[in-house]
Amino acid sequence: MPESTKTAKLTIDGQEHELPMFSPTAGPEVIDIRKLYADAGVFTYDPGFTSTASCDSTITYIDGDKGELLHRGYPIDQLAEKSHYLEVCYLLLYGELPTAAQLEDFESRVTNHTMLHEQMQYFFRGFRRDAHPMAIMVGVVGAMSAFYHDSTDITDPWQREVASIRMIAKMPTIAAWAYKYSIGQPFVYPRNDLDYASNFLRMCFAVPAEDYVVDPILSRAMDRIFTLHADHEQNASTSTVRLASSSGANPFACIAAGIACLWGPAHGGANQACLEMLKQIGEVENIPEYIERAKDKNDPFRLMGFGHRVYKNFDPRAKVMKQSADEVLELLGIENNKVLQVAKELERIALSDDYFRDKKLFPNVDFYSGIILEAMGFPTSMFTPIFAVSRTVGWISQWKEMIADPQMKIGRPRQLYLGATNRDYVDIENR
Ligand code: SDX
Repeated sequence: MPESTKTAKLTIDGQEHELPMFSPTAGPEVIDIRKLYADAGVFTYDPGFTSTASCDSTITYIDGDKGELLHRGYPIDQLAEKSHYLEVCYLLLYGELPTAAQLEDFESRVTNHTMLHEQMQYFFRGFRRDAHPMAIMVGVVGAMSAFYHDSTDITDPWQREVASIRMIAKMPTIAAWAYKYSIGQPFVYPRNDLDYASNFLRMCFAVPAEDYVVDPILSRAMDRIFTLHADHEQNASTSTVRLASSSGANPFACIAAGIACLWGPAHGGANQACLEMLKQIGEVENIPEYIERAKDKNDPFRLMGFGHRVYKNFDPRAKVMKQSADEVLELLGIENNKVLQVAKELERIALSDDYFRDKKLFPNVDFYSGIILEAMGFPTSMFTPIFAVSRTVGWISQWKEMIADPQMKIGRPRQLYLGATNRDYVDIENR
């Protein structure tokens, strides 16, 4: 932790309390309230954690006003353009860009852990064919703690490293097999001669009846989607992984908790919800009705793929994703895709509407990722699993950072209690 260079003064009932403050390398200063309850007998109150730092971290930084996203200091647009997903995984995990030798070793370790224990297939077969692939991923990833006992002891740095590599390596296989199971096709095994994104596409779309050749433009777009979703500070699913891990639970169980949280439509489920919304809108002329519904306080409808807790400017990932969407749709000859036409017109209208501009509701990463994934042939139910594959490295990196922190304590928030005060039990005959 940095040295505290100044303090904040809080006066409660005439009594002054002095709280240390810390200065970051970037972003807002923080007030250290760890001793507030002991000193002043009060809690702070921040449902949704809009003004609360849950930890210190050196992994990812977001400037919501500038629309900036840095991974270990490197801007996301440079990483999307010049790097690739496994190199970004190395950067997030170990803090620096790898040398050629380090990258080759890392990619080899990931490549050689992509297969699942053969007996894990039976977990898939226990689900109904129409099970949502996120339900399958939560179950299978949690079950990994029943198979990989040699990497569940979080106090052993070597076991933490093995669990990290296993998670990053096996998530594409788990997601692809969940997809294959849902369409009644045989599982396709990973191949060691393919890169990460190509391997995933082949496991999803190859069939035993014929050879499958990955289109390099599609694998580049897939790799870019993985890169853009890799990590994002203390978002809901990462905070879930950190909180679960703070009890000492094994990494597989904690990642399963993160997958469960990511599933929600307000978070990683937004890409699926966005595509379903665009299809529900159907035609460009229907857009104004939905814009009015999104503004109506009495209507729960929201424009999925718009808005963000942190970005009050354009999501830098959406900019890169928009470029990939155009490339993929042009390659596939479907730039006249009706869903894309509705998406582009919706974006134009929303960005010119005072309500959305005043509330700074710009398209986020999920707005364009769904369009690309749909164009690549994925069903909407696979959009969030793909987000989970990518975000696994972020969850794991944040998990490793927290576990290695000597200050780590079990997370246990308090509350503002508004319920009944102490009262005696009433026998049923007297109620
Ligand atoms: C992700 O945290 C992360 O980093 C997440 C993520 C990551 O990489 O991990 O970036 C991934 O989850 C991206 C966000 C995907 N979600 C969606 O696209 C779902 C639609 N978006 C909204 O649900 C919402 O914008 C949130 C949840 C993303 C953010 O909500 P906040 O910050 O809690 O803001 P809010 O709900 O308090 O809304 C502020 C105002 C409200 O109006 P008022 O009450 O002030 O009058 O903006 C309105 C909201 O009604 N508003 C919207 C809106 N989002 C917010 N109105 C219409 N459509 C929307 N999408």
